[in-house]
Amino acid sequence: MTPPVAQRTDAPRILARCRELVRPALGQAVRQMHPWHAEITAFSLGWDGSDGRAAPGAQGKGIRQTLALLGAEAVGGKAESAVLGAVAVELIHTFSLLHDDIMDGDETRRQRATAWKAYGTGPAVLAGDALFALAVQTLAGAPGNACGQAVRLLAGTLDELVRGQADDLLFETRPWTGPDAVQPHEYRVMAEQKTGALLGCAAGLGAVLGGAGRSETDALTAAGRHLGVAFQAVDDVLGIWGDPEITGKPVHSDLRRRKKTYPVLTALAAGGPASLRLGALLRTGEPLDDRTARRAAGLIEEAGGRSAALAEADRHLERARACLGSVTLAAEPRADLLLLLPYLVERTV
Ligand code: IPE
Ligand code: IPE
Ligand code: MG
Ligand code: MG
Repeated sequence: MTPPVAQRTDAPRILARCRELVRPALGQAVRQMHPWHAEITAFSLGWDGSDGRAAPGAQGKGIRQTLALLGAEAVGGKAESAVLGAVAVELIHTFSLLHDDIMDGDETRRQRATAWKAYGTGPAVLAGDALFALAVQTLAGAPGNACGQAVRLLAGTLDELVRGQADDLLFETRPWTGPDAVQPHEYRVMAEQKTGALLGCAAGLGAVLGGAGRSETDALTAAGRHLGVAFQAVDDVLGIWGDPEITGKPVHSDLRRRKKTYPVLTALAAGGPASLRLGALLRTGEPLDDRTARRAAGLIEEAGGRSAALAEADRHLERARACLGSVTLAAEPRADLLLLLPYLVERTV
């Protein structure tokens, strides 16, 4: 049963409604896993057990599952038709986080220890692999003619996601300035691959499973991809100026690892005294302790890196809106999507 309009009028409620619709199928999928993998997955999802009960404050926002359900509704389908797609993208997201935290050396996520910290690197890698396999298996079990198209969409997304993650890591070894420095457009491609592809896939899978034609599927996929780039730029901002008590993730970890995030790249490209001082500080090659990381954050802000990242997010949000306006979509889910876009970019969590 679709809740009445009055219950769907703000972003947290939209996310909560979709989470409720997906949780039973997600729990059922996780229970199919090897018990060790199920335990690590439940821990990562912020559940108390694999039955899907939530531990307070430790859950993800559930954006990807929400995009899948709203994608189906937007093309005139039922949210229920996209539940297996929603489960698949949430499992892929969880897999990517398990592996990402190992790659980035991060010790906290969703207000708790990361899986590799809590269970060890080997078990976390393996649980990620199991999630990957389960996601494909889940989507391959979707009924109807759309299944093949849905699996192809997911396969292409996985290829992009790992390419984006590869560039994210390779950028760490590139110099900050000079001819080999990472350019903002290279960052955009990387962000679209590592994050945009999965958000686009979520909305696109919803459309496919909801029975959409080519143009609606393409428009929703493109909207999700733009949202993903905006979302990643904001994630970079939160990684420097966010409150770890609220984000549940470490602050300054990207700076310490010399990640080429959008605020840093644009600050370095800006020129001017703060930009030059930042370049000199980052080029020393010394590990960034807390004090130096705080100083770097101040210089990035002074050089305009923070506002440039937020402006980049706004530009992609506008493009996402334009994509949603380029085809005919059902009014209510379209309104929900339009409400979610700024919420996800103005977030603090
Ligand atoms: C974190 O994604 C990884 C990125 C793509 C930036 P989310 O911010 O959606 O993570 P959860 O699921 O809400 O924890
Ligand atoms: C986001 O990676 C993309 C994936 C996990 C595939 P990040 O490293 O930028 O995200 P957080 O900040 O750890 O969530
Ligand atoms: Mg990370
Ligand atoms: Mg990463």
